[in-house]
Amino acid sequence: MTRHVLLVARSVTHHGGHDAVHRLAATVGAARGVPVRACFLDGAEPSLHAALDTAVAEAAGDVLLVPAHLPPDRYLDTWIRRAIAHWRQTRGDDLPIAVTAPLAGQPALADAVAQAIAGAHAPLTGNPGPFRSPSWSQITRHRRHVLVCRGPRCTAYGAGDVAAALGDRLAEHRLGDDDVLVTATGCLFPCNLGPLVVVHPDDTWYTGVDPHTAVRIADEHLRDGRPVDDRPSRPAG
Ligand code: FES
Repeated sequence: MTRHVLLVARSVTHHGGHDAVHRLAATVGAARGVPVRACFLDGAEPSLHAALDTAVAEAAGDVLLVPAHLPPDRYLDTWIRRAIAHWRQTRGDDLPIAVTAPLAGQPALADAVAQAIAGAHAPLTGNPGPFRSPSWSQITRHRRHVLVCRGPRCTAYGAGDVAAALGDRLAEHRLGDDDVLVTATGCLFPCNLGPLVVVHPDDTWYTGVDPHTAVRIADEHLRDGRPVDDRPSRPAG
């Protein structure tokens, strides 16, 4: 039976950051000759839940989790334990799962920084213009602002598929940022009702959203202007 290793990371905001974590996993996997994959507690795919489902589907003997966030993230360590408990409860699976010490606490990390300091240096040159490009002064004239929660619980409940379905449907309708501005957020607090999609200025909270409902929100609310009224949406206040 094969051990599967999962690098568990947090969401990163910069472009390409998630791909870099996937590449790190692939490099380690090739070097160690074992399956090593990346997954994310929030904000990116695959979620920890989805990665564990894959490990089960591939008949993993056990799973070793590596908290792979830099700098150290106490939140990540706490949440891995909670997410594993929820996955076991909802899947009814007794797959052995263990966790390593956080990557951020490994002594080799200090060695890597020392090697970088001792290694080659590249002088920095460049034009400061793009730092203050006029584009970054324009407020979009969107009619509606949609918040898609990508916090850890909503991510575990399937927010990644919801965000993808919503984005694809809005693209089909050619509703861009000037019509509907979609923003992925951190936790919006009523986690037990997730995945959450919130539409402003209507103040409409859609709870327990799945990809099918996300498509209906795009069609009925965001394109046609009628809230999806047979859904458990909850106007705030
Ligand atoms: S994680 Fe979505 S409301 Fe908390």
